[in-house]
Amino acid sequence: MVGATTAERIADWDITDVVLVDIIEGKPQGIALDLLESGPVLGFDTALTGANDYAATAGADIIVITSGSPRKPGMSRDDLLTVNMNIVRSVTTEAVKHSPDAIIIVVTNPLDAMCHVAFEASGFPKERVIGQAGILDTARFRAFIAQELDVSVDEVAAYVLGGHGDTMVPLVRYCTVAGLPVSELIGADRLETIVQRTRDGGAEIVNLLGTSAYYAPAAATAEMVKSILLDKKRILPCAALLEGEFGIDGLYVGVPVKLGAKGIEQILEVKLNKEERQMFEKSANAVKGLVDDMARLKQAAS
Ligand code: LAC
Repeated sequence: MVGATTAERIADWDITDVVLVDIIEGKPQGIALDLLESGPVLGFDTALTGANDYAATAGADIIVITSGSPRKPGMSRDDLLTVNMNIVRSVTTEAVKHSPDAIIIVVTNPLDAMCHVAFEASGFPKERVIGQAGILDTARFRAFIAQELDVSVDEVAAYVLGGHGDTMVPLVRYCTVAGLPVSELIGADRLETIVQRTRDGGAEIVNLLGTSAYYAPAAATAEMVKSILLDKKRILPCAALLEGEFGIDGLYVGVPVKLGAKGIEQILEVKLNKEERQMFEKSANAVKGLVDDMARLKQAAS
């Protein structure tokens, strides 16, 4: 559902053709046709097609990978590691054969680990393999702050960094409402509750829906596509391969990046205080645990 919903959002903007690929025969074709037929009502001319093979995607500027198993209630994102790493590896390998110059946006969970898989399988430079998650986590945080204060979400600026897991790091110190520090407006206890609700945001939806969220993840993914295609150079929290930034080497972790036509054009190093640094390192360590697990699984299989 994240893929189809992302396509729906992108189609509305009339900025690119969209090809949907799925292994189920008829499904991507059906979704693409249904979306195409909404064009005359909504006023877009975006060309949408569906296919079961990657040849139809040849020459793509951007590859969005959402394939994989979603969460069921009681599962953490990390529980999806074994099944989704194989799917993401094969999807990446097939897709890049036809689009060697594309930029890859990874959405499949466990997100940061799947970025490693796509990075390795594609052989692309790190600027062209980016993970979606920070925009989603930040959107949840902003939505909860706006609800708490009964103000427009437009007033709330925030960053959620770190891995897209239970240890993600909502940066309360950098969160502002109309330019004012949020800690001046919401008490410490309430803020802590909102931080925890943000960390559990994915699970809250899984428990209600019985499967993973898709409206907010798709909105976040489409925003990345737009910033890249239109070379907007927006500063957005995304999973990027760190090579020394934030004191982390060789791991995909969520950080503020500049997204433009070249993909990740810059990583912005935010100053973290001791407590934030500890949370960030704990989150990066959780990603490292999954990357090590994948290496063991790969070794066991060979
Ligand atoms: C979420 C899943 C998609 O956070 O990771 O909703």
